[in-house]
Amino acid sequence: MYELRSDTFTKPSEAMRVAMAHAEVGDDVYFEDPTINRLEAIAAGITGKEKALFVTSGSMGNLIPLYLNGGRAAEVLAHAHSHIIHHEVGSAAAIAGVIPIGIDTPRGLLDVACLKEHVKPIAYDLARTAMIEVENTIGGICYPIDTLKEIKAFAELHEMKVHMDGARLFNASVATNVDVKTIASCADTVSFCLSKGLGAPVGSMLCGTEEFIDKARKIRKMLGGGMRQSGILAAAGIYALEHNIQRLAEDHRNAKAIATALSGTTWARIELDDVETNMVFFSVPDIHFETVVQVFKNHQILCGGDGSTIRLVTHLDFSQSDTERVCAIIRTIKAQEFVA
Ligand SMILES: Cc1ncc(COP(=O)(O)O)c(C=O)c1O
Repeated sequence: MYELRSDTFTKPSEAMRVAMAHAEVGDDVYFEDPTINRLEAIAAGITGKEKALFVTSGSMGNLIPLYLNGGRAAEVLAHAHSHIIHHEVGSAAAIAGVIPIGIDTPRGLLDVACLKEHVKPIAYDLARTAMIEVENTIGGICYPIDTLKEIKAFAELHEMKVHMDGARLFNASVATNVDVKTIASCADTVSFCLSKGLGAPVGSMLCGTEEFIDKARKIRKMLGGGMRQSGILAAAGIYALEHNIQRLAEDHRNAKAIATALSGTTWARIELDDVETNMVFFSVPDIHFETVVQVFKNHQILCGGDGSTIRLVTHLDFSQSDTERVCAIIRTIKAQEFVA
């Protein structure tokens, strides 16, 4: 089976496991895990922020800024299809107490024009708009750096914070050739996942000012995320940051090759230009995604889907030769298989 449901399916490599096995550890709740401390210093350095915090997941990396920057009855503007609105079990409302306002735009990107329409004026009877959340990449699409700079300037004007859900921040940086620090400078806080395209088994980093991260550490503890000898996980994160960033370009090339193979079929509808990183989205008109997923499975390809959209995600456990074989398989699939 070719595993293309998500880049979260990557497994730690032998070398990463060796790094984990030999990690020096201590009790991180006492600030005494040297490997965690090193990972946090590396993450702060890469993103150009004062401090960073190892958190259990991308969801926790998003929830803490929602909690601290938003808070009860504050509004947070995010894309209508964002992860925080759809895939984090409503934690924005249930735990952080914020009101997420989803803004729909065709390619998933927010800009000042659409944000302007949703910022609440300061008034006695209105909720305060406290934060803008940008997801970069979103659906595999990268924010243009100028759009991010404009959003940050707009947020400052309205005394709002910007949090970037950079689950795939490094994909965005590699694809746009813009340094991670420059991208992160457009947000007050940025989270990124070690456990997706970077190939670590667990964990995300939340980066921001020292003051913010000190508060975030407390909220992490409150959420049950104070871990002990977690240096064993941090070692995987350090290995991922040292070895698996530049190779993301390979995943992007493989995704483009698959998208091109799909665009050459009679049955797939795909926007080739929207395949900017490691995610390929397509549809088969009038066919439900479950049927398409099954047809692909019959051909040894595992893909994800939702509604009418099918998703294929490339990653470090899926090589260029795997890509060539998957492209060849796609070219053999006949339109009739979806209706049989
Ligand atoms: C864009 C985005 N943000 C956040 C997350 C949450 O990450 P986690 O599954 O580690 O909570 C994901 C996970 O797929 C994601 O795709």
